[in-house]
Amino acid sequence: MDLGRAAAVRSTYMRRTLPLFLLVLTLTLTACTAAVAQTVELPPPRTEGDTSFEEAVHRRQSVREFTDTSLKRGDIGQLLWSAAGRTVDGVSGPTRAAASAGGLYPIRAYIVVGNAEDIEPGVYRYRWRSHELSRVETGDVRRQLRLAALGQGAVGRAPCVVVVAADYEVTRQRYGDRGVERYVHMDAGHAAQNVILQAEALGLGATAIGAFTDSAVKRVLDIDLEPMYLIPVGYPR
Ligand SMILES: Cc1cc2nc3c(=O)[nH]c(=O)nc-3n(C[C@H](O)[C@H](O)[C@H](O)COP(=O)(O)O)c2cc1C
Repeated sequence: MDLGRAAAVRSTYMRRTLPLFLLVLTLTLTACTAAVAQTVELPPPRTEGDTSFEEAVHRRQSVREFTDTSLKRGDIGQLLWSAAGRTVDGVSGPTRAAASAGGLYPIRAYIVVGNAEDIEPGVYRYRWRSHELSRVETGDVRRQLRLAALGQGAVGRAPCVVVVAADYEVTRQRYGDRGVERYVHMDAGHAAQNVILQAEALGLGATAIGAFTDSAVKRVLDIDLEPMYLIPVGYPR
């Protein structure tokens, strides 16, 4: 075959196969993106419940042993909403569930799902504006998270673990190092206490866990934020 004819055959071949190749590439990329960034809708947060605030405070105690019962999607929604959810509309914009120095809200809430009704195991970020979850990791990572938490069994046994993490830079930009050393950790404490009291009000049990290797938790969750608390949550055994 002469060179001219070979080039013509190649060009025809490219014209025919290129659209098909692009279609396959688009479908593959779409499937990959959907698999990684799956969004999970949560039922609207309930702002009334059967347990009074006083009862929740009175009954709260750290729970480290859990039954095998799955967490409900609505319960997961309530726990994350109480950490970082949108509440009333204030004068300077939407208020969130936990107070934050300067209204900067550096706290980010995640949930490690191991055993939940109709939510696949994985790591999910809570989207406070839309009250939904975005999957950032697939698969059950509770074992790795337990190892990152110095082998603490409650982290591996709980059906789910709420993670309170912080973006230090948000607060540093306005308040410098003092803001990071004090305010961010105060903000984290407010969010964690809300989660624990919400768990109590839902008939669940939880524990604040602060003993873990920061870098290992960051690796397991694939986050570039500072982990503050791991809060294993489930039905008390
Ligand atoms: C900042 C902080 C860190 C904690 N870290 C852990 C921990 O790593 N592991 C654990 O089992 N409990 C941890 N706890 C729970 C305490 O041990 C618990 O609150 C304390 O023993 C009092 O018991 P109570 O929560 O039942 O009142 C922590 C609590 C706080 C506030």
